[in-house]
Parts: sequence; C-alpha cells; structure tokens
Amino acid sequence: MSVVKRASVAALLAPLLVFATGYAESRPLEERAAECVACHGPGGSSSTPGVPSISGQPQFFIINQLILMREGVRPVAAMADVLKGLKDEEAVALAERFSSTPIVRSDETADPALVKRGAELAVKMRCASCHMPGYEGSEQMPRLSGQRIDYMIDALKAYRDDKRPGADTAMTAVVYGASDADLAALAHYTATK
Ligand code: HEC
Ligand code: HEC
Repeated sequence: MSVVKRASVAALLAPLLVFATGYAESRPLEERAAECVACHGPGGSSSTPGVPSISGQPQFFIINQLILMREGVRPVAAMADVLKGLKDEEAVALAERFSSTPIVRSDETADPALVKRGAELAVKMRCASCHMPGYEGSEQMPRLSGQRIDYMIDALKAYRDDKRPGADTAMTAVVYGASDADLAALAHYTATK
C-alpha cells in the first residue's frame, strides 16, 4: 500500500476513531441517568411492577450493585445494555445522584393484616439490626422503607431459593426456610415503615 493510500485510509477512519475513543470515555451523567429513569421512574422512584426504586438508597449499596451487575456476579438481563462500558466513576456519580433523591412510595396497597404479621416477624428475625430501625438502609444494606412490595417479595424468594447471587450471603441465611406467606408479610411491613 502506498503512503498516500495509507494516509487516506487514516483520514477516512479518523472520525470513527474519535467516535470509538469518545465512547470509551465517561459519558455525560445526564445521558446515563436518563437511561436509568426510563425504567426506574422519575428521580429513580418506580411505578413499574418488578422494577425497584433506586432513589433514597444508600450510595454504597447502589455502587455495589452496579459493579456486581456489570461484572455479571448478579446477572440482570434488563440492565445488560446500560451497564456496557460503565466506568467505576460513573457508577459513583449515578449512585450519588439517586441516593440523594428522596424516594416516592409506589401506589401499591399494603394489606393491614400482612403488615401486622410482618411487624412481628421482623422483630423475631432482627431485620432492623442490619437495615436500620427506620429501614432506610446503611452502607451495603439497602433501604426497604418505601421500596416496591412486589419487588421485595421477589427478592426475598430469590434469596431463600438461592437465586440471587451477590457479594453478600447474609440474606440467604436470614430467610432460610421462610414460607411465601411470611416473606410477603415482611415485604408489606418493611415497605410501609
Ligand atoms: C431496561 C430497564 C432498566 C434500565 C434501563 C435500568 N435498569 Fe436498573 N434494574 C432494572 C430491573 C428490572 C432491576 C431488578 C432486577 C432484579 O429483579 O433483580 C434493576 C435493578 C437495579 C438496581 C438494584 C436495585 C436493588 O434494590 O436491588 C440498581 C442499583 C439499578 N438497577 C440501577 C440502575 C441504574 C443506575 C441505571 C442506569 C445506568 C439502570 N438501573 C438502568 C431495570 C433497568
Ligand atoms: C445480617 C444483616 C441483615 C439482616 C439481619 C437482614 N438483612 Fe436484608 N439485606 C442485607 C444485605 C447485606 C443485603 C444486600 C445483599 C445483596 O447484595 O444482595 C440485603 C438485602 C435485602 C433485600 C433486597 C432489597 C433490594 O433492594 O434488592 C430485602 C428485600 C431484604 N434484605 C429484606 C430483609 C428482611 C425482611 C429482613 C428480616 C427478615 C432482613 N433483610 C434482614 C443484610 C441483612
């Protein structure tokens, strides 16, 4: 290949290369966050069944989960695309944004009988010892207060059935052998705290 030809190939590729490296850089936070709220709801408070609220979660919990999901330790098919190329510093910035946005409770109806039963179980099972007395979470422990009930029921069953892998196995031990009815009661209670 002649020098001239090589130069023209480079010239032709230049815009693509700029695009490629540009993409490997951190993307604007606004652009990233817009993708998140498309599923997680305005400000990160979800009104979609099965999609958790991420607003008001401890910053560390969000960072932790984003890295676990990006690395495939906690596989979440729905988020595979948005996690592609997510940099650690972007995860930190997104977590800061959503953790500092107050959670808006979903419009799910809590069943008073389940709330009452859940309150008794939560004392016995010492949920607040890790999730904090107001269930607002702390460090790697997520907020349960205000979280979607349907999502928490699914999450608790997944822990019990050993289907939610992660860095922390505390929850699998906590809900070992619990019935579906007890898990529902715990979700109804903690969500309404
Ligand atoms: C296409 C929809 C979709 C998009 C886009 C999306 N998520 Fe998610 N996300 C989900 C679903 C569904 C789950 C719950 C997965 C499960 O059931 O375990 C989830 C879970 C999470 C969790 C774990 C929450 C918890 O309580 O365990 C975090 C944190 C999270 N997403 C943050 C984000 C951020 C930040 C973005 C933007 C970069 C984002 N998500 C974009 C659908 C989405
Ligand atoms: C020993 C500490 C500990 C105790 C006790 C505990 N938890 Fe957890 N819980 C955690 C940690 C840590 C996580 C995050 C684990 C992970 O990375 O998946 C978690 C996650 C959860 C989640 C998933 C929330 C989400 O947004 O994904 C729910 C729901 C939950 N706990 C409910 C409970 C309930 C109800 C109890 C009492 C029956 C309880 N926890 C007791 C430490 C604890």
